[in-house]
Amino acid sequence: MFPAWPPQWPEITESILRTVRRGDWGRYRGEATAALQEQIAAAVGCRHVRLVSSGSLGIELALRAAGVAAGHQVVLCGYDYPGNFRAIELLGARPVLVDADPSSYSLDPQPLQRLAQQADAKTAVKAVVVSHLYGVPAPIRRLREICDRAGWMLIEDACQTPGMQIEGRPAGAWGDVGVLSFGGSKPLTAGNGGAVLTSRDPIASRLNAWLDRPSDAAPMSELQAAALLPQLDRLAECNQIRWQTVSAINAGVDWIRQATAECQVTPQATFYKFAFLSERRDTMLETLRRDELPVGPGYRSMHRSSDRRCDKVGTLDRCRILGEQLCLLDHSALLATGPLRTQLVQRLSEAAS
Ligand SMILES: Cc1ncc(COP(=O)(O)O)c(C=O)c1O
Repeated sequence: MFPAWPPQWPEITESILRTVRRGDWGRYRGEATAALQEQIAAAVGCRHVRLVSSGSLGIELALRAAGVAAGHQVVLCGYDYPGNFRAIELLGARPVLVDADPSSYSLDPQPLQRLAQQADAKTAVKAVVVSHLYGVPAPIRRLREICDRAGWMLIEDACQTPGMQIEGRPAGAWGDVGVLSFGGSKPLTAGNGGAVLTSRDPIASRLNAWLDRPSDAAPMSELQAAALLPQLDRLAECNQIRWQTVSAINAGVDWIRQATAECQVTPQATFYKFAFLSERRDTMLETLRRDELPVGPGYRSMHRSSDRRCDKVGTLDRCRILGEQLCLLDHSALLATGPLRTQLVQRLSEAAS
């Protein structure tokens, strides 16, 4: 029913074929990866872009390059991409979970601020990981200020939000290190892949030292980069379509507007999947699926993780609610336009009646 995913655009095929014809498909490095690096650096306004094999590895590398090591603490939201928790653990560091912000799906600055005021926590914490989830920007200016005052590194997970501008600065440029993903469901997709972004030379040096052995230890291929370039050209256009679909849903579906009331659709929002809450999630998802709508649950919240594996700040109540109630409308539906979009809004509207 919805537009094909991954996008079946002729310019993607042509870009891949050009790479094949040039013979770059069989080289360590070629024109497409160089062009992609340059274009991402220009779009985000950062001096160093390292293309890598996935967003998950990008987060691990970002932590490593920011100096996170065994024995450090790293703060993240108790509701987040679970791979971020695993990346912290893999480095021998200890995750510290804080609650989610009431007006986004990301880390709440208030408990982070309280943590920064505790002398022992201030010294044990090395970094904070924050993800912009489901198109709603994290309160990143406030988080940046807290990290600056506490002397903590900020790792900005912009995997879901390429092209998002927050208060005039691109997502990915607020952190000491930013990370993008080009995974199979992401707004820019190559099936797999990611990028690590920074303007800090020492961080870039550590990243390069870890990856260049001297072959690139976690590369992105020329063919992947060739598939991404035409998508980068049309990212703003696709972000606009997704935003318009979400606006149409909010305008036309009362129960969804109520279920997302805390997370307003701002002009800055850059949707990937669209999130809404339902107290009867299983029934709701079943009903929507019966109507052939591509929906699914959000992440499992980490608020129940064992105390052996992490520390927790407070009771993480919003994380629990997000983990139990969050539903996601898939990215493919958000690219609907014209009569298809009208049909989507209608089906959603009828689903809960
Ligand atoms: C917020 C967030 N961070 C990191 C990742 C990991 O990216 P990848 O699938 O490229 O490893 C994802 C993927 O879903 C994500 O949504």
